Amino acid sequence: MSKTYSIGIVGARGHTGAELIRLVAAHPQLELAFVSSRELDGQRVADHNPAYTGDLRYENLGPAAVVGKGAEVVVMALPNGKCAPYVEALDAAAPQTLVVDLSADHRFDAGWYYGLPEIPRGRCQGQRRISNPGCYATAMQLAIWPMLEYLAGPPQCFGVSGYSGAGTTPSDRNNPELLRDNLMPYSLVGHVHEREVSAQLGVPVEFMPHVAPHFRGITMTVNMWLTGAVKPDWVRARYEQRYAGEPLVDVVEQAPWVSRIAGRHGVEIGGFSVAPGGKRLVVVATLDNLLKGAATQAMQNINIALGLPELASIPAFKETSHG
Ligand SMILES: NC(=O)c1ccc[n+]([C@@H]2O[C@H](COP(=O)([O-])OP(=O)(O)OC[C@H]3O[C@@H](n4cnc5c(N)ncnc54)[C@H](OP(=O)(O)O)[C@@H]3O)[C@@H](O)[C@H]2O)c1
Repeated sequence: MSKTYSIGIVGARGHTGAELIRLVAAHPQLELAFVSSRELDGQRVADHNPAYTGDLRYENLGPAAVVGKGAEVVVMALPNGKCAPYVEALDAAAPQTLVVDLSADHRFDAGWYYGLPEIPRGRCQGQRRISNPGCYATAMQLAIWPMLEYLAGPPQCFGVSGYSGAGTTPSDRNNPELLRDNLMPYSLVGHVHEREVSAQLGVPVEFMPHVAPHFRGITMTVNMWLTGAVKPDWVRARYEQRYAGEPLVDVVEQAPWVSRIAGRHGVEIGGFSVAPGGKRLVVVATLDNLLKGAATQAMQNINIALGLPELASIPAFKETSHG
């Protein structure tokens, strides 16, 4: 018999928490131990998330109560800056618990493993504190990584996200009224994902985020100045070779569309365009911010850390590609 692991989600009312509940419900070796929410306290999970058919209810759980649940895996799906009391309690009482943090709180913490499964492969198994990369940051890193050694300067990354990226706490950036017929630029220098990608890749990147009226999905258009001249076919072959064994990265010919990635679990990278002279390359990546940008990536990390099949509970991606 395969072992079943118990898993709890702190902040399960939110967009990413809901996606995680769906993935856990489909997982043959994970069982929901608790889901926390202050607003939905006492309500049945199944009434909010039809993918889950058990009897569990949302609970308002503080740090001690989370520890008391004794789950083997805990996912933190709280807004940035909120998880410290929970992590401190888990560190003190349950250091062997696998904790995956979806927020930015531990992405610059050397004591935590930065879990972008494709870069690099092979170091995640057995980790117990995993920081899940940002959604834009995932798209930027996967788009830039194959060209890293050829960069002549900072890549410029023009990112457009659906408004689910701004979470459920009301703000201008998730207000459909303000977003109608609009594109909202914000944090045009110094966004946390700019610092995150610069730190992870070891080269500075320049990132300009925008929010659009669609609900989910990111388009990341990356402009790269290169040290030598390249041709589009060579670039595409390089990306194909780098990601050949990656089930959640699809290299495609045309620039991918966000409408075709929404609800799907991987990344599409394509549109390889080279300016006259060969030293300016533009690449486009799309992903669903709630899936490969958050919940799906967390599930990859959990599976790898526990030694389970990496894609357990994650629907096939490349087979349904529109490449
Ligand atoms: N949305 C994305 O595309 C995305 C992508 C990658 C990473 N992330 C990161 O993932 C985390 C969750 O994002 P999300 O979009 O799912 O957020 P969200 O929709 O705003 O949900 C936040 C959750 O945290 C709970 N919560 C809020 N404030 C709290 C507090 N002070 N104490 C305890 N619980 C609190 C909320 O439930 P109650 O208010 O009912 O307690 C809710 O369940 C964030 O750190 C975000 O940056 C998000």
